[in-house]
Order: sequence, then structure tokens, then C-alpha cells
Amino acid sequence: MSKSFDVIVIGGGPGGYIAAIRAAQLGFNVACVDEWKNDKGGPAPGGTCTNVGCIPSKALLQSSEHFDHAGNHFADHGIGLSNLTIDVTKMLGRKDQVVKQNNDGILYLLKKNKVSFFHGRGAFVKAESGTYEVSVSGTADATLSAKHVIVATGSIARQLPGAAFDEDRILSNDGALRIGAVPKTLGVIGSGVIGLEMGSVWRRLGAEVTILEALPGFLGAADEGVAKEALKAFTKQGLKFAFGVKITGVQTGAKGVVVAYTNAKGEAVTLDVERLIVSIGRIPNTIGLNAAGVGLALDERGAIIVDADCKTNLPNVWAVGDVVRGPMLAHKAEEEGVAVAERIAGQHGHVDFNLVPWVIYTSPEISWVGQTEQQLKAEGRAYKSGQFPFMANGRARALGDTTGFVKFLADAETDEILGVHIVGPFASELIAEAVVAMAFKASAEDIARICHAHPSLSEATKEAALAVDKRTLNY
Ligand code: FAD
Ligand code: NAI
Repeated sequence: MSKSFDVIVIGGGPGGYIAAIRAAQLGFNVACVDEWKNDKGGPAPGGTCTNVGCIPSKALLQSSEHFDHAGNHFADHGIGLSNLTIDVTKMLGRKDQVVKQNNDGILYLLKKNKVSFFHGRGAFVKAESGTYEVSVSGTADATLSAKHVIVATGSIARQLPGAAFDEDRILSNDGALRIGAVPKTLGVIGSGVIGLEMGSVWRRLGAEVTILEALPGFLGAADEGVAKEALKAFTKQGLKFAFGVKITGVQTGAKGVVVAYTNAKGEAVTLDVERLIVSIGRIPNTIGLNAAGVGLALDERGAIIVDADCKTNLPNVWAVGDVVRGPMLAHKAEEEGVAVAERIAGQHGHVDFNLVPWVIYTSPEISWVGQTEQQLKAEGRAYKSGQFPFMANGRARALGDTTGFVKFLADAETDEILGVHIVGPFASELIAEAVVAMAFKASAEDIARICHAHPSLSEATKEAALAVDKRTLNY
């Protein structure tokens, strides 16, 4: 006997659990199936984001930033410390606690919203007379049926051919968050978001970190000016980079890993490290879903094919988050989840992909929304730009963190904001103002005319908006 629902959500990450909650708010009888297990075998909803992604990485970034401040910046404030140590076991334990609080919070939210949670793997069984049957195999086996199914099965780390993850020497994001002691040397393949964030954590704690990147340039998705400023800061912190490399072999031994590669000049080089993080992107995950069994169409990358509304090729089957096209970001997955639940209810859910902000939680933090200067140039769009350095911002000086700037790009004629790019302190928080402004189609002058509190980092945003019209007041 199958249990009948209006909506079944497969996957309990940010895309799935948020879709389930929104669908329940809209009056549907909802099931959410998620297979993630905690170390005791119990349910751990929240997906990659909560268990091995956004949340634990930010916990370790915070711990390592405290350590860095204590070791390198407290003295500037007259605070003396001797015998500074790091207890990695305790740091990892705290991170695990933060994860558990989030897992428990999601279980509570599902219950509060009367979503039925099933701990196990969900797989399509069949589609009959407009109803989908989904089997759950896991903690308790069950068969569910519903008219609507939302697939939110996320993504998994991409392996480098010939260098399978063993999570001991060759680490994915999962192992990179569980290194039991600070390695003397750490290699990272891929200078993308994970490479920079996890490389920063272990560098701050004392590891010698070398990042090998296939592309000739750094952080191609970011505005060029921001990427240049960030690279300067990271290099100053001691992160070592090699660009334009081609990995030719990875050998693990009892003591570590030897990575062989050719550098940008074509010379053969080897890198000997205790541990190696491979962060070369992620791939959509449909393992065990039986997509083929019901004819759910995937593209050549394994992503579920969806239209702009997250509709798949099957009637009433939707897919959201990392398992479909678009940026692999938790907030993008959430927005799609909400929009799909609203569409099922006959409402007009909407996601503006141009307004999905990016944040990299390094030090300095990097954030942006909208278009980069190089994209505008390629488009041939006439634009104006304005930039304001944190060096000229009073709050940044008081914080002792004056790296970076805020940069505005606005239409040359209408002054509409086309992109905002930030590198510097609390860029992750500052970007929200730019997203709001762009959502309301604001001009740079709109921001320039709004009263911003003094002294605050947000004054740099106002000043960058003023800079578009070449009338900064403090620079
Ligand atoms: P996921 O979070 O991957 O969730 C999918 C869930 O479905 C998982 O729980 C999985 O176990 C479950 N599942 C899969 N198949 C089945 C099945 N057949 N049956 C039942 N359950 C199934 N994004 C940000 O926006 N900000 C960040 O700071 C950030 N930091 C990150 C740091 C790291 C190290 C990593 C790896 C990623 C980070 N991301 C970040 C990306 C973010 O984690 C993802 O974009 C987000 O988790 C995608 O959500 P999702 O719901 O699509 O998939
Ligand atoms: P990424 O796509 O950000 O970066 C991968 C990098 O590896 C690229 O620079 C690429 O050129 C390079 N690369 C690919 N193949 C290579 C090879 N063979 N040798 C050397 N370099 C190679 O992917 P990453 O860092 O794995 O992260 C995956 C995704 O997770 C991100 O794209 C992002 O969507 C998400 N994420 C988001 C975070 C955030 O929002 N703060 C934090 C961490 C991850």
C-alpha cells in the first residue's frame, strides 16, 4: 500500500526542504525524502550545504579567522598573547555541533510545517494515470505516491581521473572539512570557490598551501579588477598559486601525495604534499533515482533538463538546485524550490537569475551581483564605473581591515545599476544592498542619495555609487 501525498520532494538540501516547506504552507500534503546520514546513522537533512558545504566551511573559516587575528592582528590593538595554540579536534567538534544544530533545526521546521519526512533513498518506480510512485529505501522502507514530484538531489564532487577520493590523502570537500591535524603541506587542485575557502582555512592554521589551476587566469567569473585585488591579497597571506597547469599524475604514498604537472611554460614539475584537496567543480547527482526508468531526461553533463520554470520533460515532475542548470548555490536552489511550490499552487513563482549574488568567504571576502566589466565590454554596452577603496572608509580603518573596494557599473545613459562588485571586509553582507537596489531597478544616483549610517562599511557602497558620477566626498 502506498502512502498518498500531493507533492513528493526527493532530496532534503536547501532546494528540497525549502520547496517542501513552501508547498506545505500553500496547503499541500507533502513528503520529503532525504538519505543523508549523521555519524550515528540518523537523519541529517540539509544536504551538501548543511553537512559538507556552506555551513561547516563557514564554521571552519570563522575558527581559522579567529586564530589568524589572534596571531597576526591582536598585537596591533595592544593585546598580547603568548603560547597561541589551535586544538584542531575541538575546532572540528564545534563545526560538527554547528552542523547538528542546523540538521535538527530543519527536522523541526519540517515537523512544524507538517511535512512528512522519510529517511532513505527515493527512487521513481512508475508513472500511472497521472500519479508517480516513489519507493523509499533506508531507515524504514515505504512506497509513496503523488501527482507532483520535485527532484532536488543536488550534486557531488567531481573526481580527477586517476586520483580517486580516498578522503585521507586525496580529499573532496568532505575530507577537506575533517583533516584531523594541520598538515605541514597541502596541495589544492582548482583555484575556484572551494579551493580558495578551504585553502584559506588550512593556510591560516599554518599549512603551506599550493593551489594548482588549469586556467591561465584567476577567478574568471569575477570582475577582473576584483580578481586582481583578491589575488594580490591571497598571495600576501602566503597562498601559493600556479596557473595554466596540466596535471599529469597523482601518486599517493604512506606519507603523502606527489602531484606531477606541467606548468604554464610547459616544464615538468612535481609537488610533494601531505594532503591534496581536489576541488575542480561538482557534478549533478541522480544516482539511484531511476531517472531512466520513468524517462526523465538528462543532459550530457548528467543534469536534469528543465525549462526556465524548472519543469522537466515529464508532466508534473520538477527539478531544482544543483541537479539542474545554473549556478550551484544554496540560495539559488532555495529560490527555485519556492518558485516551483508556488507554480504547483497556480501562482507565478519567479527567479531572476541575473540577481543571484555570489559570495566567496575568504579574507578579503568577495561578492558580486549582476554583470562584470568584461561582460559589459563583450556585449558592447556603454557603461560608467565608480569605485571606492575601503582604505578611505573610517569604519574599515577602525576595524583594521582596509583591503579592497566597492565597484559600481551603471548604464552610461540611464544610470541603471548593471553590476556591483565588492572585495573587502563583510562583502558578504554589503552585497545585499546592491541586490535590493538592482531588484528595484535603481540607478547609481538612487544609492548615492540614500543616507547611510556613519561610520559604516556601507558608506563605501554609497561612495562607490557617487564615484559613478565622479563626485565621491571622502576620496
Ligand atoms: P544538496 O544540498 O546537495 O542536497 C541534496 C540532498 O538530496 C542531499 O541531502 C542528498 O543526500 C539527497 N539525495 C540525493 N539523492 C537522493 C535520493 N535519490 N533520495 C533521497 N535523497 C537523495 N553555496 C552557497 O550558496 N554558499 C556557500 O557558502 C556555499 N559553500 C559551499 C561549500 C562547499 C564546500 C560546497 C561543496 C558547496 C558549497 N555551496 C555553497 C554550494 C551549496 O552547498 C549547494 O549549491 C547546495 O547545497 C545545493 O542545494 P540542493 O538542495 O540542490 O542539493
Ligand atoms: P569551481 O567551479 O568554483 O572551481 C573549479 C576550478 O578548478 C576552476 O577554476 C577550474 O578551472 C579548475 N579546474 C578544473 N579542472 C581542473 C584540472 N584538471 N586541473 C586544475 N584545475 C582544474 O568548483 P569548486 O571550487 O569545486 O566548487 C564547486 C561549486 O560549489 C562552486 O562552483 C560553487 O557553485 C559551490 N561553492 C560555493 C561556495 C560559495 O558560494 N561561497 C563555496 C564553495 C563551493
